[in-house]
Amino acid sequence: MIVDRTGRRFRNLRVSLTAACNYACTYCVEDGKRLLRARDELSAAELAHGVELLMEVAGIEKLRITGGEPLVTPKFDDFLTAVMAMPLSDVSFTTNGQLLADKVDLLARCGLKRVNVSLDTLHPERFRQIARGGDLDSVLHGIERCLAAGIRVKLNMVPLKTGNADQILPMLDYALERGIELRFIELMRMGHLAHSAAFDRDFLGMEDLLDIIGARYRYNRTDAAWDSTAVRFDVRGGDDAVLGQFGVIANESEPFCSTCTRLRLSADGYLHGCLSSSNRHAVSDLLRGPREDAVAGLEAALWRAMGDKQDVAFTGGATVMKLIGG
Ligand code: 5AD
Repeated sequence: MIVDRTGRRFRNLRVSLTAACNYACTYCVEDGKRLLRARDELSAAELAHGVELLMEVAGIEKLRITGGEPLVTPKFDDFLTAVMAMPLSDVSFTTNGQLLADKVDLLARCGLKRVNVSLDTLHPERFRQIARGGDLDSVLHGIERCLAAGIRVKLNMVPLKTGNADQILPMLDYALERGIELRFIELMRMGHLAHSAAFDRDFLGMEDLLDIIGARYRYNRTDAAWDSTAVRFDVRGGDDAVLGQFGVIANESEPFCSTCTRLRLSADGYLHGCLSSSNRHAVSDLLRGPREDAVAGLEAALWRAMGDKQDVAFTGGATVMKLIGG
């Protein structure tokens, strides 16, 4: 088992199916750029083989499918079908929701229980300004279809001082009305934001967020799993009844590196031990080669990836969320 000196081990794997995305969100992509697939992306079968091996070698128990945007690649269906047959304790995926509605039948057929949808605003024009692509109604339709099929939905919102701060309460209302947990992700210093004034201009942290929410709702902090990245809250109504939950991924305000159990596999076959590190470890050849070599090679790569984890907090890096999907 790969365990570091502070007791961390890999438990959660995130597999990016493709680097391509049909959005170009302002906080993710520099102006004028689009996200395209990487040159040598692994096939659905190769990535699924990677999951199987990493369950064995790294002790992976939980899987999240990411991108880019995982629904833009035809690999999604085969990959999902393959991993749903594996003895994982949890499988979920993160999507921008644009192509979600048409996938709901497949998700239900495979027995997928939950999905995280990224949505930063309920305002159609602001949506287009932030996402630089797609349209709001398709996302909302996808969410409704999931809920109707009994698939649990979580929403990810990146609060931005100059972009969607006025949407924090409408988004929370929308989520509470539907039994959806809203998760606010504090802006991370990634990619073009790593060393940019835009980060300081737009960063809206947990304290400010709770002030905004507190103006309308009473909330209580609740317990979260020890290796959860989210700080979780109950929302209470006038009669003290619990109206629902929300969470904050407070990577700046309350860093969670010391309990991080995450490992990432990119579509072009690199392991990433840490989002805040530019280091990555090539494993494509291993996944395409004989099993024995793969097991030994992966173990060596995993030790290196574990060494990339930060001790305390995210320090910012050139790694881009778009390639490894959070
Ligand atoms: N900071 C915070 N969240 C980000 N995401 C993408 N880039 C950033 C960033 N720089 C979010 C997306 C998606 C999730 C995978 O990560 O909005 O919800």
